[in-house]
Amino acid sequence: MTTELGRLIARRIALAGPITVADFMAEALGHPRLGYYRRVLPLGAAGDFTTAPEISQMFGEMLGAWLAERWLAMGRPAAMKLIELGPGRGTLLADALRATRGVPGFHAAISLHLVEVNEPLRALQQAALVAWRPSWYERFDDVPAGPALIIANEFFDALPVRQFHKTAQGWCERMVGLAPDGETLCFALAPGVTPFSRFLPDAPAGAEAEISEAARAIAAAIGVRLGRDGGWALIVDYGRDASGPGSSLQAVRGHRGANILDRPGETDLSAHVDFAAIAAAATDPRARAFGPTGQGDFLRRLGIVHRAETLKAAAATSQRATIDAALMRLIAPHQMGTLFRVLAVGDDRSAAPAGFSDTPSDDT
Ligand SMILES: C[S@@+](CC[C@H](N)C(=O)[O-])C[C@H]1O[C@@H](n2cnc3c(N)ncnc32)[C@H](O)[C@@H]1O
Repeated sequence: MTTELGRLIARRIALAGPITVADFMAEALGHPRLGYYRRVLPLGAAGDFTTAPEISQMFGEMLGAWLAERWLAMGRPAAMKLIELGPGRGTLLADALRATRGVPGFHAAISLHLVEVNEPLRALQQAALVAWRPSWYERFDDVPAGPALIIANEFFDALPVRQFHKTAQGWCERMVGLAPDGETLCFALAPGVTPFSRFLPDAPAGAEAEISEAARAIAAAIGVRLGRDGGWALIVDYGRDASGPGSSLQAVRGHRGANILDRPGETDLSAHVDFAAIAAAATDPRARAFGPTGQGDFLRRLGIVHRAETLKAAAATSQRATIDAALMRLIAPHQMGTLFRVLAVGDDRSAAPAGFSDTPSDDT
């Protein structure tokens, strides 16, 4: 049994023909009434997945320190927009702002701007950040101009990707069509070689590839904005450093893998972020990308191991193992430490910001 949204998508295909995987993803996640990111609360133990800020307060605290350091490096601008793309429950910013209370002038300088399409999550963000009187936007482009610090944690992986398959003739686009029963969604290759071929890697027949036009467009808008108005962005997500063949689109429902085309609107869809593509798109005459580096190295360089020790010293014995386990989840190479990558975008004349230099931290 499919969903109401599954039936709507099937009707659209029956009327107008197969759609791209990106169009399917955009509908499944973003349909104004039935899309996954419009209606359910996907985060946390009862949702479909857990994210770094929900694992431990230490994550938001480290990112807060990074943001405050960038503000200081910019010469303490008097007015600075703090923009988060896809803020989830608002946990990251709440932790970041609590951790930076002691930075003179920082809190007085910032205003909060949240880019969020999910109404239930907007309500949680309001509760977590009420003292900051945030403003909300549907799209990044809607946030008013001005110097900005921008955060995006596990935002880019939710943006639609197109998929391609290399045949003996060349790269062909994978489409979503209808099975012979006229109702069930299924994958099929478009006839003919795609005009996207020149953006796709050299690869043998049988290879797969993905492109996210939406991710590139938002990264480009970030680069243009930072180049024009000044500021810094920090993008954290799972993905790969170099563009190349491969497909990564996956479906998760209730913390388990699921079929991509089953139950649209009730299933989380995400794809690995192509950091090389994002870095290239964000590069502007006055802004460039730093990194990516592994989340584990980044957090360690910012002092997360020391922070965990401080928290443990003040914690009950029973809590200490929880803090250690959260630390490992965030930084260990076989957990989130390597798969998750961190990319900064900012002033191309600047030295590498904190967390990106190879100077060993005191914690190692
Ligand atoms: C995977 S969650 C990550 C939440 C949060 N950053 C965290 O780390 O816990 C993705 C977030 O992006 C939001 N989102 C997804 N697609 C979006 C879009 N196209 N525009 C704006 N927000 C979007 C979701 O509602 C959610 O808040």
